[in-house]
Amino acid sequence: MNFDAQLSNELGRFAANFPEWADVRPGLPAKFSVEAHGDAAQWREAIEDLEEPHLRESSLRRLMPWRKGPWTFGETHIDTEWRSDWKWERLKPHLPSLDHQRVLDVGCGNGYFGWRLLDAGARAVVGIDPTLLYCMQHLAAARMLGEANHWVLPLTLEASPLAACFDTVLSMGVIYHRKEPVDHVARLFACCRPGGTVVLESLIVEGTISLHPPNRYARMRNVSIVPSIEQLKSWLRDAGFESPRVVDITPTLTDEQHTTDWMRFESLREALDPHDASKTVEGHPAPIRATVIANKARAKP
Ligand SMILES: C[S@@+](CC[C@H](N)C(=O)[O-])C[C@H]1O[C@@H](n2cnc3c(N)ncnc32)[C@H](O)[C@@H]1O
Repeated sequence: MNFDAQLSNELGRFAANFPEWADVRPGLPAKFSVEAHGDAAQWREAIEDLEEPHLRESSLRRLMPWRKGPWTFGETHIDTEWRSDWKWERLKPHLPSLDHQRVLDVGCGNGYFGWRLLDAGARAVVGIDPTLLYCMQHLAAARMLGEANHWVLPLTLEASPLAACFDTVLSMGVIYHRKEPVDHVARLFACCRPGGTVVLESLIVEGTISLHPPNRYARMRNVSIVPSIEQLKSWLRDAGFESPRVVDITPTLTDEQHTTDWMRFESLREALDPHDASKTVEGHPAPIRATVIANKARAKP
């Protein structure tokens, strides 16, 4: 199947499943076009080449770097930068029943968690991520794993409809990149149906005082705030969510995030102080992540 045929099939099924997102649907094909990104032509070709079993591994390599995973496509195992399966195992026991649920995954990367959510019973998953390569990786995964009610769309949360049509809304690893975290949580609230659940995962600092890195944090240029846990909870409460509870706090170590053969750039090891792994190279506390879950009240009868 050529790339455009696959895309049009995917977006057609998306439109049928999510009429609430009808406004953004017409603009989506252009975002996957060769005009939209200098590398789009080579990514589109790599995805088409997946049809040839002998080209499969080389095609997947043309979609590097693979950050979220791991993946097994037939005989090819993709050892990704992140052990996202570990994050999933920590999260899964705390999720509400996903049976027949519609889920929104904000900043979903290549959609790794979407497949796990479908396996756990979700009816449909919409992932949004402005990084086009990750959307392309999702289309590659969809070719390898088969058609599913799972979409990864090249949209920011700010450009997405504010329709309260999702039973569960995930925002994992995104909020500390946002200059306006209050607005981010307000949008999560708007996307969540009454009675629904939000999962907010973030880098955090211990104690009560959030960190505002003046320059980089763990070599990342775009970290606006590393919140305290209380700050995360109060953002959720201020947006209207109820009963925020911390379900997990885990330091990120180099066995969970590292350079691999499928992500060859530097990773967490190079972001930590070589003499003291409790600190980043900038002298900030080393990364710890927390997951907070909260609810949106049911509509009053
Ligand atoms: C650190 S990754 C987290 C990926 C995944 N959610 C996870 O937990 O492993 C952050 C992702 O958020 C995406 N992102 C950044 N700004 C965003 C925005 N305004 N709306 C939606 N996604 C965004 C980035 O492209 C990136 O893929």
